[in-house]
Amino acid sequence: MATIISGKELSLQIRGEIAEKAKQFEEQNGRLPGLAVIIVGENPASKVYVRNKHRACGECGMYSEVIELPEQTPEEELLAVIDELNGRSEIDGILVQLPLPRHIKESVVINRISPEKDVDVFHPVNVGRLTTGNYTLAPCTPAGVVEMLVRSGVEIKGKKCVVVGRSNIVGKPLALLLLEKNGTVTVCHSRTADLKAECLEADILVAAIGKPKFITADMVKPGAVVVDVGINRNEEGKLCGDVDYENVEPLCSYITPVPGGVGPMTITMLMKNTLLAAEERAKG
Ligand code: GUN
Repeated sequence: MATIISGKELSLQIRGEIAEKAKQFEEQNGRLPGLAVIIVGENPASKVYVRNKHRACGECGMYSEVIELPEQTPEEELLAVIDELNGRSEIDGILVQLPLPRHIKESVVINRISPEKDVDVFHPVNVGRLTTGNYTLAPCTPAGVVEMLVRSGVEIKGKKCVVVGRSNIVGKPLALLLLEKNGTVTVCHSRTADLKAECLEADILVAAIGKPKFITADMVKPGAVVVDVGINRNEEGKLCGDVDYENVEPLCSYITPVPGGVGPMTITMLMKNTLLAAEERAKG
């Protein structure tokens, strides 16, 4: 029987800690840490995510602003909104919800956000800082994964960590964070020659593929720690991860559920980044 790492419970605890620090920040600076979230268009999943981010700001005692722009908004107009937010002193974090409509170039938009306010940690300057280990802000989903491990008492140092998935948002930055914690890291992907053999080596196995039940019991070493970053819908429309939870759970020492695992931690790390960005900016 595995210990289930509840991202929901951990988030509650961490959001309480962040709220405490946000209060201290307000006492010292006469204002709350502030996050601006921009959403372009009507993507239903994006709307839910943005609402959750807005709510989390409330829970953490932070100021938040949601800017809703129509689907047809020209790229130039979105860039002008970002410029305005870059210049506003009460805004510490700026997040542009992805995906963007097809006529808007994602990289142009990301590059326009001031790196100091880039709480997603997508800007190339921040990716560079992360790569060299010289950073304050860590990308939200990977940071959430590491936080779950650390707070559950899972040692990363010297452990064989296998990350399945090489996306810019999860796989690649997570590999860097695990390296930073002195894990021995392998990144696997769709062209990996023998995925099963790689996964069977893992002390800590992270699934970030985006395919339901992709990680099966025969791919997991008994006693391994399994972290599921996937958010998929199964045939019945139910939320499920990338791990065949039912069959994998009895094998491992620790496992994260979906929902209630990495998901809530991602938003909690966004709150943490907003606070950190505020503190950095207040230092000047
Ligand atoms: N869409 C899905 N995940 C993310 C994320 O982490 N950040 C942003 N900005 N958009 C997303």
